[in-house]
Amino acid sequence: MFDEEESLIVSTKTEYDEVENVLRPKSMEGYVGQEKVKTNLSVFMQAAKLRGEPLDHVLLYGPPGLGKTTLAHIIAAEMGVQIKVTSGPSIEKSGDLAAILTNLNEGDVLFIDEIHRLNHNVEEILYPAMEDFSLDFILGKGPSARSVQIPLKRFTLVGATTRAGMLSSPLRDRFGVICRLETYSVDELAEIVRRSAITLGTEIDETASKEVARRSRGTPRIVNRLLKRVRDFSAVMSHDSITLEDAKHALDRLEIDDLGLDNIDVRLLNSMIDKFGGGPVGLETLAATINEDANTIEDVYEPYLLQLGFISKTPRGRMAMPKAYEHLGKTVSPKAKKQISLFDEQN
Ligand SMILES: Nc1ncnc2c1ncn2[C@@H]1O[C@H](COP(=O)(O)OP(=O)(O)OP(=O)(O)O)[C@@H](O)[C@H]1O
Ligand SMILES: [Mg+2]
Repeated sequence: MFDEEESLIVSTKTEYDEVENVLRPKSMEGYVGQEKVKTNLSVFMQAAKLRGEPLDHVLLYGPPGLGKTTLAHIIAAEMGVQIKVTSGPSIEKSGDLAAILTNLNEGDVLFIDEIHRLNHNVEEILYPAMEDFSLDFILGKGPSARSVQIPLKRFTLVGATTRAGMLSSPLRDRFGVICRLETYSVDELAEIVRRSAITLGTEIDETASKEVARRSRGTPRIVNRLLKRVRDFSAVMSHDSITLEDAKHALDRLEIDDLGLDNIDVRLLNSMIDKFGGGPVGLETLAATINEDANTIEDVYEPYLLQLGFISKTPRGRMAMPKAYEHLGKTVSPKAKKQISLFDEQN
């Protein structure tokens, strides 16, 4: 089985957090890329400040490692308010959430990570809290039951999720601002490498930054991790500055290929092509075949493979596309060719 601690791509939430916090930009100015999101948020924040009101509730969504948590902290910093951090699965009872909400100060940011994993009872407390800044309770039962309202300070909820599709629509509708984070370009990632190298007190050649950026599947978290590993290899070679050679050597040793694919991506694609004739094959079947978790494949691996045009999602499952065959040096079988052209016709 695949060892999660060794993976540069998948991470549990707490792992690496220390370094991540060090490298986390603290202001909009240091937050690279996501220009559309930054511009919009800046306007909304400025307007809220002018009106002397808290910022509208913000939903941030997109694949792991693109900067949702970072942005939540920046929003609080720019608004000059406190941030209270929690997550969907860690709020077990509606009373837990009520306690958090009643402790917020005027304008504070409440950051709920993995908000799609809130349980239903807890979520219901959130509706009136978001809409009217009040807690609504029913006291007692039967004919003598009465509802009680407790007013809250006006706060900003910032929710983050990798799965916007799993949010209930009443919850989604209560966010005034919805931001989708996009994967980063190589130039943006190279800029992040430059900034991170300065923070870490390391020098890195321009060509080496680009190389690390190119192999980071559009993701700042991965670019920072690769930089750290590459730095280790370079230090062992006693180089003052990380060179392109160091970077290439390190990345090859880490089995990250030219496009940033690791051995799981490659196993996934090989299995689709060799075992399932290129697909379509269902996610669960595929996951079982390569002994990986289906959610991990969907959240972490597929977005980049889709972005590269290596796979497509069809109603009948996943399909390998010609670019994947090309990258792996395989030929498309006549049967697979037929499937692909059928798919192309329908899209
Ligand atoms: N726009 C950015 N500019 C510079 N660095 C960034 C940017 N976005 C993210 N990072 C870096 O990437 C790391 C991961 O970002 P972050 O933890 O915010 O991702 P996330 O979207 O919350 O991921 P997850 O879904 O796993 O919680 C941060 O520690 C930060 O160093
Ligand atoms: Mg996060």
